[in-house]
Amino acid sequence: MGMRVPFIAGNWKMHKTASEAEAHIESLLPQVSDVHGVDVALCVPFTDLHVMVGSAAGSNVAIYAQNMHEEQAGAFTGEISPPMLAEIGIDGVLLGHSERRRLFGETDRALAAKVSAALDAGLRPILCVGETEAEREAQETERRLRHQVREGLSRVPSHRLADVVIAYEPIWAIGTGNVASAQQAQEAISFIRALLSDKAVAPSGGPDVAPTVRILYGGSVTAGNASELLRLEDVDGVLVGGASLDADEFSAIVAAAVGTPEA
Ligand code: 13P
Repeated sequence: MGMRVPFIAGNWKMHKTASEAEAHIESLLPQVSDVHGVDVALCVPFTDLHVMVGSAAGSNVAIYAQNMHEEQAGAFTGEISPPMLAEIGIDGVLLGHSERRRLFGETDRALAAKVSAALDAGLRPILCVGETEAEREAQETERRLRHQVREGLSRVPSHRLADVVIAYEPIWAIGTGNVASAQQAQEAISFIRALLSDKAVAPSGGPDVAPTVRILYGGSVTAGNASELLRLEDVDGVLVGGASLDADEFSAIVAAAVGTPEA
């Protein structure tokens, strides 16, 4: 392809206090500092953001939040707004992770507002989509992905579509050790890419931006299976949960992205 820079993102979920985060980034940075042609990001808890932005300043590791409210400010106890993240130097935000959809009632409608609010604030959104095991068994994977992608991107103007990253995370593969096969990952991600060419997603009639949008695979990615996934034609990177908590393993995954077809 030559046009999509590989993207390796870690999602720490609810792990690491601020002091643990600081120790982690100090050990990670020297291991990834020589890596060129790969975008690296860590999606960390809110309480780690400040220390991580400070420690990662001037490095090739971007710092992302894991969630965000769509409004600028207001009576939303316990929430964090786009300008709060932008002002402390956050680069982007993970949106619609399946844990947030399933455990915290995140809806496609709220996500559409969040994706567009993130772009407006200068934050790069990573929109997560993916089917359950029951949906896959019932041959409903494509229907589910079509719905999530269309709804999630419904408020993104087509000229901003290339600034959105999509993460395909089949729910049955998250935290299970049951990684999608190369064929399953490629099929689902090429389906998502085809959706991006669809006029229902990008209605402007302008140039087709689908080939420039980065789409990641997530779900039980390890240093052992990352290379095979990263070689797939439509897979532009990986979103790594458990394996991102270990600096050595995460840096091995970053190294696996160097020299992949898109790099
Ligand atoms: P695991 O890599 O631990 O399966 O988690 C995947 C994930 O949810 C990343 O967002």
